[in-house]
Amino acid sequence: MDSNYDSKFLMERARKAKELAHCPESGFQVGSAVLTENGEIFTGCNIENASYGATNCAERTAIFKAVSEGHKSFKAIALSSSNSSKPVYPCGICRQVMAEFNPKMIIHIDGDEKLYTVEELLPKYFSSKQIS
Ligand code: THU
Repeated sequence: MDSNYDSKFLMERARKAKELAHCPESGFQVGSAVLTENGEIFTGCNIENASYGATNCAERTAIFKAVSEGHKSFKAIALSSSNSSKPVYPCGICRQVMAEFNPKMIIHIDGDEKLYTVEELLPKYFSSKQIS
């Protein structure tokens, strides 16, 4: 997979982002960094809630921050958790959110050398093409 960007730097941003996680329920910190087509990086952490269901994952925090600031074209996203011995893979909801913006987005997982695309991790994803 071609990556004409600094993937190490993107991962560093994801690692740093997890330090801001709000995770009193699980104690599991997750950080994410999403790279836009024009080279900007938006970071996010998981934000938990006492109701559990209102929790927002790190990837969605990063993507929603970017979208709310006018960015919708993403090249890659990096993900890192506080459990450095085990790679953390994006949850199903986050995969669906990634697919909305770019099914070919490259996913970098801390602790896993292999790169993935969204469509590889979420084949036959639901899209607006199915509604029309
Ligand atoms: N979490 C993420 O931030 N991203 C994922 O893709 C998987 C799970 C968070 C949500 C929750 O705060 C914690 O990890 C434990 O599930």
